Amino acid sequence: MTRTEATPMTTRRPRIAPCLTAAEEAPRAPRRRVPHVITVTSGKGGVGKTNFTANLGWQLRQIRRNVMILDADLGLANIDIILGLTPDFNLSHVLSGEKTLGDIITRGPGGLRILPAGSGLPGVTDLTDAQKMALLAQMEALEQDFDYFLIDTGAGIAGNVIYFSLAAQTMIVMVTPEPTSLTDAYALVKVLSREYHQRRFKVVANEVTDEAEGREVFQNLTRVTDRFLDVSLDYLGHIPHDPKLRNAVRMQRPFCEVFPEAPAAQAIRRIARRVSTLQNDPLNSDLGLLWRNVLVREGTA
Ligand SMILES: Nc1ncnc2c1ncn2[C@@H]1O[C@H](COP(=O)(O)OP(=O)(O)OP(=O)(O)O)[C@@H](O)[C@H]1O
Ligand SMILES: [Mg+2]
Repeated sequence: MTRTEATPMTTRRPRIAPCLTAAEEAPRAPRRRVPHVITVTSGKGGVGKTNFTANLGWQLRQIRRNVMILDADLGLANIDIILGLTPDFNLSHVLSGEKTLGDIITRGPGGLRILPAGSGLPGVTDLTDAQKMALLAQMEALEQDFDYFLIDTGAGIAGNVIYFSLAAQTMIVMVTPEPTSLTDAYALVKVLSREYHQRRFKVVANEVTDEAEGREVFQNLTRVTDRFLDVSLDYLGHIPHDPKLRNAVRMQRPFCEVFPEAPAAQAIRRIARRVSTLQNDPLNSDLGLLWRNVLVREGTA
């Protein structure tokens, strides 16, 4: 028997003062809640990220999850527009020091919370160190109140997309059947894997005609990633093309709220259920560290 193995004789018990009542024990630190950070991104623009993020959030609220949506499409923010919100303040006011992140949180439909970006904000890599540190500290303070942090990014391989993707435990890449959407998704996955060591991606096929086409889109993408990249792609599901989605956008209300029985709304509900069963990657659950990596590393934008 090695010396390190404990026997009943050698087991050391912690010494507890015999008369200590429960009330006298030091209060336990509350368990820190770590939200699941999910980035929604794509290689090509206009494939449905913003609409999907808003409706995914709305569906997750239906199953009583606390959801924050961070609009990280800093160039052209529009989550607030499609949800009919007109926030007075946005991230630019946080960066200028006028407001805190807590001040700018906007209430959305169904109890969603939104962090509006505002238009024409600088990229993460253009922020000063002081701005990054302030944002980081405030982000960490917010996290405990949420189960999910959904981040809607812009398309492509620009600085902010990469940075926010690196802050996520789960990266959802959206693709449509268009050949350019697939080649651009491949290019994004290639950069994130080769240059930033990301290995796991979830895929949603949007604007397909049916389930079979969704699977085909996924298989077309995995055929090339399996051949040329060291990555693993999981299929989260498909969303059919639905002309009614544009009506909901015009009404500035979540599509899943206005047309809950539409096939596309039911598809998003199925994806939300799948998302709710995904485990937080324990290796990536130190969000402070993740945000720090994102905000403090050298810029490449
Ligand atoms: N399943 C769908 N059925 C029909 N129309 C859709 C569907 N998904 C998205 N759209 C439409 O596609 C357009 C682009 O959607 P959205 O703005 O969500 O894309 P995006 O990827 O966020 O774009 P960007 O890259 O510019 O941020 C919108 O007009 C939207 O209504
Ligand atoms: Mg968008």
